[in-house]
Amino acid sequence: MKDLLRLRTSLTETIEKALNEQIKMEAEASAMYLAMSSWCDRNGFDFSGGYFKKQSDEEREHMLRLFKYVSDMGGRAVSPDVTNVQVEFDTFRSVFEQALQQEIAVTQSFNRIADKCQKEKDYVTFTFLQWFLKEQIEEEYVARRALELFEVIGEEGTGLYEIDKRVPKVKYEDTYED
Ligand code: FEO
Repeated sequence: MKDLLRLRTSLTETIEKALNEQIKMEAEASAMYLAMSSWCDRNGFDFSGGYFKKQSDEEREHMLRLFKYVSDMGGRAVSPDVTNVQVEFDTFRSVFEQALQQEIAVTQSFNRIADKCQKEKDYVTFTFLQWFLKEQIEEEYVARRALELFEVIGEEGTGLYEIDKRVPKVKYEDTYED
């Protein structure tokens, strides 16, 4: 009998590759947040240690969400190889600077994938990406607000202690919900 199956998936190679790269980026972000959690714990910043552990878990969820999508679509989801994870950080503040840089890089990466989806006319993936694009509003907001605590509270005296306490309380109000 003639084989009628011409395609295994509607995902193009370009989009599958971009999604696998994003899976890796989320895994790297998860590992980086875990490293930040460890550094904070080792340096007496307990609350931030817990905050970064939570961020790490969220990044793993993001990774799995992308992973499931590629698999569900009949693509080849690749379990990422994460190596050379940073261990040391210069200062408490630099941890938060790096966290914000990381979130900005993630947003830019999703924008590039969305752009590729439009070029490839892959509106299924484009629609799937909307959740992540919206999520990045919160991700950047929380990282930015946490970093701003260093300006608002100041690092002198018990400043770092106060900043540490306030970090897990940074909350994002989602007024975009309908
Ligand atoms: Fe998965 Fe923080 O972006």
